[in-house]
Amino acid sequence: MEQHKKGQWGNQFGFLMAAVGSAVGLGNLWGFPYKMGKNGGFAFLFIYILLVVFVGIIITITELSIGRKTGKGVVGAYRDLGKKYAPIGWFGVISPFLIMSFYTMLGGYTLKYMVANLGDIFGASWGYQGSGMATGDYFQSFYSDQLQTCIYTAVFVVLTAAVVRGGVSQGIEKFSKVAMPALFFMLLAVIVRSVTLPGAGEGLRFVFEPNFEVFKGSGWVNVFAAAGGQAFFSLSLGMGIMVTYGSYLKKDEDLKVNSIVIPVADTIIAVLAGVAIMPAVFAAGLEPTAGPGLLFVTLQTVFASMGAGGPIFGFLMYFLVFIAAITSSISLLETVVSVVVDLKLERSETKSFDKKKITFWCAAAVLAEAIFVSLDGLGSHGFPQILGQSTWLDSMDLVSEGVLMPLSALFTAIICGWIMPRFVPDEVERNGKFTWEKFYMFCIKFVVPPVMVLVLVGQIDTFFSLGIFS
Ligand code: PHE
Repeated sequence: MEQHKKGQWGNQFGFLMAAVGSAVGLGNLWGFPYKMGKNGGFAFLFIYILLVVFVGIIITITELSIGRKTGKGVVGAYRDLGKKYAPIGWFGVISPFLIMSFYTMLGGYTLKYMVANLGDIFGASWGYQGSGMATGDYFQSFYSDQLQTCIYTAVFVVLTAAVVRGGVSQGIEKFSKVAMPALFFMLLAVIVRSVTLPGAGEGLRFVFEPNFEVFKGSGWVNVFAAAGGQAFFSLSLGMGIMVTYGSYLKKDEDLKVNSIVIPVADTIIAVLAGVAIMPAVFAAGLEPTAGPGLLFVTLQTVFASMGAGGPIFGFLMYFLVFIAAITSSISLLETVVSVVVDLKLERSETKSFDKKKITFWCAAAVLAEAIFVSLDGLGSHGFPQILGQSTWLDSMDLVSEGVLMPLSALFTAIICGWIMPRFVPDEVERNGKFTWEKFYMFCIKFVVPPVMVLVLVGQIDTFFSLGIFS
């Protein structure tokens, strides 16, 4: 069907669910709890919150304003700010595109584990238990099975595309309005189970107990860089996402409120994820880890040790992770689609476009790159290293999350803080006084740029294990 308008959110709740859905993802579930535990517990949380307030909220309102003011996807939006800024817009579409190469694969993993636990509920041979393997071996045999991972990845891409092709309000918003509250209630259910397991207190202590040791010497720089990188990825910033979602906002929406609600909700979910996951891990006598190992090995071990109810909680948990991942994946795909729609609108005389067709081709391109990352099987097939990373997932992540994301946020802060300081306040003031304008201007000028430089250096340090800060 040919369309003429790019679409708009139906109401504020719908927009918020979509935006929070983008923010809440694998980063919250497998990154935050572990990083918090390892980097000082409450002390880390304190720094994280400072970063959310002084940087996260600031960049969120900046990106939403750029989107709403220009009404365009990320490339067109930055070009509207000034012709020479177009490259920053391109960063904002290349990053989400590259992130999708592994995010959709990981989404496929969550589907696999939903199926495995479902099988266990019915005592079927295709469940995890039917395999007779230890959880670590089970995971390894799955991620190195190229055919299986490619199929699950493809299913996840198709599901993402199915929502995006429905359009902004009829697809993304409708889906998020159901999925996000569902995620929240499932998380609460998992928390209740997790904290009532014998030995759960140890896990809570791991996540929350303040530890100021980590700040010793230059340690605080490490903590700061870790928190900064985590905050940016988790809030979906520096990726064109909030620009894109902002471009579908009505002119009478209050940007001030929205740009506070999204980061706050994301942070609450991240902390709740720690309460859901770590007590169970410690109750089962396991060591906490980060990344895929935590979700697919440690947690599956927990469910396998729970007895009869285990598979039910396992299914619930992986379903929750699946929702977190797909709402993020949707926002990534929409950002790319939106740019292509703009290009099409510019070129076509009829000023119309076929979103379904554009979504199809963008999803096909995503699937192509995701197949490569899936074939690499987390580095299990001896593929050549790219950019010195041991898995292709890490190579893609290095370019996008490691480099382009902090650069995009850094340039955005310089443009909106120093070059066009009225741009954001003017847009925000459409809906009444910008009550915290002074605070905003101070942060965007003086706080965000140095933090972004630190995050950039911190990311490069982590990816190449340079040990700059140690
Ligand atoms: N914020 C998502 C997470 O925490 C990931 C993401 C990053 C999504 C960038 C969109 C853009 O997992």
